[in-house]
Amino acid sequence: MSQIGLALIGCGGLGRVHAGCVAKVEGARFLAYVDLNEEAATRALHEFGGDYATTDVRRVLGDDRIQAVYIVTRHDSHAPLAIAAAQAGKDILIEKPLALKLEECEAVAEAVARTGVRMMPAFKMRYYPLIRQARQFIPEPQVLVGQMMDGRWGDTAWAQDPIQGGANVHSQGCHTTDIIRFLSGSEPRRIWAAGGTLTHPGHPCIDQCVASIQFANGHVASWIQGDACLGPYTSKFFFELFGNGRSVQLYDRLKKATFFDGQETRVEQRDEEEGFQLENEEFIAALRQGRQPELTVHDGIQATRMVLAADRAIRTGQVQEL
Ligand SMILES: NC(=O)c1ccc[n+]([C@@H]2O[C@H](COP(=O)([O-])OP(=O)(O)OC[C@H]3O[C@@H](n4cnc5c(N)ncnc54)[C@H](O)[C@@H]3O)[C@@H](O)[C@H]2O)c1
Repeated sequence: MSQIGLALIGCGGLGRVHAGCVAKVEGARFLAYVDLNEEAATRALHEFGGDYATTDVRRVLGDDRIQAVYIVTRHDSHAPLAIAAAQAGKDILIEKPLALKLEECEAVAEAVARTGVRMMPAFKMRYYPLIRQARQFIPEPQVLVGQMMDGRWGDTAWAQDPIQGGANVHSQGCHTTDIIRFLSGSEPRRIWAAGGTLTHPGHPCIDQCVASIQFANGHVASWIQGDACLGPYTSKFFFELFGNGRSVQLYDRLKKATFFDGQETRVEQRDEEEGFQLENEEFIAALRQGRQPELTVHDGIQATRMVLAADRAIRTGQVQEL
């Protein structure tokens, strides 16, 4: 089988996770590794194989053997790298969030539309099999709960940096808003929220958020996000769906789910978290089949739009229309 050439931009913790996933997929391989830290790029090249490591992104953007790039850097470089990659005609898998500001998200979407490249935002939770089963079991839940509650983030963690990371709600909230939107089967229309900077007093970014979301179909969701403490019973990720006499609870890092059809309860369990591997399989399948990935830049924008609306609601005390 011929191999699609890929380049990894950002060879840190998660870049290496993606490299490990791609190594298990037929039909594509990383030819090049880019990182501002030369040692990180070289280490990835030696560990996962390929042709070269570089600190200069222009080298891979000008390399005709590379069809697609993975952007797995910190959040302040997502938009400029994505726009440069689109202008170079490269298909793109981009880690969350698309960007921290709406104008940057829109500039990325404009570049993707203008150049016609494919872009998949990497929302790994979309690929957990039990999330998909839950959506099929209750396609448009009347009431939804989405919670991602982590242990307190360290003050020196890069994701806590206002420019590079954005703190918990802006960094990880898009994972939760994306799944809430996906499970709702509708589009968000209105957001109320309360929260603030509760675990890192004095920090400019909010770190806890409790929001209510109303969708175009009139259904509602409750979204809880933050780093106030891990809950061992629910785990970091917890979703609940209620509708038409049915309910689902997803917990244990989305490896376990309870389905109730109004009479009988069924519990499903998966051995592993499968999101990273399956999202990589989908991206490479889309490249090989010459089609759009299931997730597009629109999903990336909508997830961040919901986070930013909640932030505005918290800061102003006003309900936000989307
Ligand atoms: N989907 C998930 O569950 C999940 C989990 C962890 C991280 N992430 C995301 O993955 C991304 C990376 O996170 P990480 O934990 O791997 O961070 P990291 O700091 O470990 O790695 C980022 C790497 O990018 C490099 N880099 C920064 N700017 C660059 C540039 N302009 N060009 C080339 N290289 C550059 C850095 O030197 C570093 O090696 C973030 O967007 C983060 O939110 C997602």
